[in-house]
Amino acid sequence: MAKNASKSKPLPIYIINGPNLNLLGTREPEIYGRATLGEIEKLCAARAKAHGLLTVFLQSNKEGELVEFLQEARVAACGVLLNAAGYTHTSVAILDAMQMLKQPVIEVHLSNPARREHYRHLSYVAKAATGSITGLGVNSYLLAIDAVAALLSGSPKNEKTRKKK
Ligand code: DQA
Repeated sequence: MAKNASKSKPLPIYIINGPNLNLLGTREPEIYGRATLGEIEKLCAARAKAHGLLTVFLQSNKEGELVEFLQEARVAACGVLLNAAGYTHTSVAILDAMQMLKQPVIEVHLSNPARREHYRHLSYVAKAATGSITGLGVNSYLLAIDAVAALLSGSPKNEKTRKKK
């Protein structure tokens, strides 16, 4: 489990969701699928638990609140999943907040913005993310949790069994 060095307290993964994601399930299901945000939250908690990690699941329709979640994550999270939704494509404020994070940050999207309208092709979030997982529906979140777990455990860099080429 990820630990806060000073207090030995396990730090959770912050899973931060932006505007309109509260309406998942009924919002354009042909693009975003039928899972509700509550269902995604439960699946994420179970996946993180399998890695020995905790989650804090957050959503806001307000840009400033997303910035505040990211500021809080600086000291309270071992890693971050961020689906900034529409703010992905517009928000320098979210990019600035991300640039202060030292933990792994994975950009997540249910859909694949690169295959969609031109105005979704620019991602400010991608400019500060450790990596991006898009287009896989709910699996984008679950694979992003696997990625955070792998990054925290240092694999494959610290794999003792890895042979030198
Ligand atoms: C989204 C993609 C964004 O372009 C869009 O504005 C969303 C959802 C996704 O998860 O596919 O709200 O982030």
